[in-house]
Amino acid sequence: MAIHKTALIDENVVIGKHVTISSGCVIYPNCEFGDNVFIGHNTILQSNTIVGDNSYIGGLVNCEGDVTIGKFCGINAQCHLTKYMKIGNYTFFGPMICTVNDKDMNYRREGHGSNLQGPIIGDYVRIGALSLLMSGITIGDNATIGAMSLVLKNIPANSKVKGHPAYCYGLIDI
Ligand SMILES: CC(C)(COP(=O)(O)OP(=O)(O)OC[C@H]1O[C@@H](n2cnc3c(N)ncnc32)[C@H](O)[C@@H]1OP(=O)(O)O)[C@@H](O)C(=O)NCCC(=O)NCCS
Repeated sequence: MAIHKTALIDENVVIGKHVTISSGCVIYPNCEFGDNVFIGHNTILQSNTIVGDNSYIGGLVNCEGDVTIGKFCGINAQCHLTKYMKIGNYTFFGPMICTVNDKDMNYRREGHGSNLQGPIIGDYVRIGALSLLMSGITIGDNATIGAMSLVLKNIPANSKVKGHPAYCYGLIDI
């Protein structure tokens, strides 16, 4: 286990074997990290972030909490992981992917909180850099999303997707 002395880690965090937590990280209560998890510099993981065995989270990732990340995932630098999203196993996020959970943007207005829906991402999904995933969407297993895609609708399993807004332009050979 290699936990940098500048990392702020709540006492109610479960940390598996051989976990690295780099300098400047802030880890909120009730997070759980499986074995061999790596967390890069200055990443913030808010309460109830669950990270499965062998997953990698890059630097400067901001996770709003109540998020589940599966095993063998790669979440690259500067991703924003919105509250209530779920990421399956073996899924790859390129750098600077933004996810949102509040389509109506009613933060601090009447009704806020009742409509929040994080994106749900399947297993073996690959998402290119700088993409945006809209609230409430699902991305099926093994889909590939091109860089800078604007994903507004559900993506079926095995789809090849790109564009602004994103559209399916083929299927992965399996
Ligand atoms: C979409 C992607 C997966 C390639 O898919 P592909 O099926 O092999 O596509 P090609 O490279 O053969 O390009 C096919 C067409 O799509 C276009 N295209 C490629 N990537 C695109 C993208 N992200 N958005 C929009 N169009 C794209 C190409 O210009 C080409 O257009 P054309 O047929 O008019 O010439 C890839 O380009 C991509 O975006 N990868 C993500 C890379 C990334 O973010 N990596 C993170 C590493 S840390």
